[in-house]
Amino acid sequence: MICHILKDADAIGKAAASLFVSQTLRKPDSVLGFATGSSPIPTYQGMIDAYKAGIVDFAGVTTFNLDEYCGLAPDHDQGYRYFMMQNLFDHLNVPHDRIHVPNGLAADFDAEGVAYDAAIDAAGGIDLQILGIGHNGHIGFNEPCDVFPQITHKVTLTESTIEANKRFFASADEVPRYAVSMGIGTILKVRSIVLVATGKGKAEAVKKMIKDDPSPFCPASALQFHPDVTVLLDADAASLL
Ligand code: GLP
Repeated sequence: MICHILKDADAIGKAAASLFVSQTLRKPDSVLGFATGSSPIPTYQGMIDAYKAGIVDFAGVTTFNLDEYCGLAPDHDQGYRYFMMQNLFDHLNVPHDRIHVPNGLAADFDAEGVAYDAAIDAAGGIDLQILGIGHNGHIGFNEPCDVFPQITHKVTLTESTIEANKRFFASADEVPRYAVSMGIGTILKVRSIVLVATGKGKAEAVKKMIKDDPSPFCPASALQFHPDVTVLLDADAASLL
């Protein structure tokens, strides 16, 4: 892992956006991997700015998102497809039929997981993936557990994740209890990864990801096995390194 400590969320967003822009300039039919949460929003703004400035054209890319809540329709305003449309895709020229988000309404999540990973493979694999990190070390919605999940799968969300994500809902009771997420194996197959984190609340998870021995109890620590991970932090998130 290569770790850079930058001034603030804005500087991190600009740096991460430049990775997506240069990836797309080098390879206009890139396969790009996206995440939700507040951490990637400055990155998405940087990509939108570059597109509006005429620096980059996203017409040739294909995209895959990490995860989706189970039980929320694609147009639900707390769903992750809706989040991505609002924060990124409505402002770029990515063809909508090449935007992929796991189906939170799938009748059979085992089949959905197999099909989602197969679609990533059929697209040629993900070239560049952005990740945030949960306070408990989750990436995507891979929660701490005793094995690293291999493929896209249904997850039971932990109380700490429900607590952290209730800010986006009217109350904790409305946060879905399940999600469908790329597996750690799916994520490790990506060619290049950029992980962004800010704030003291992420410091412990960042320390476990980078400094501790890899363990599925900190899912992000699996990134130690990946050869091309760039971690962009502010001083607070890096404060326990
Ligand atoms: C959710 C998402 C993760 C994200 C995490 C952190 O749980 N599934 O992909 O990394 O939130 O969100 P934030 O960046 O808002 O702290």
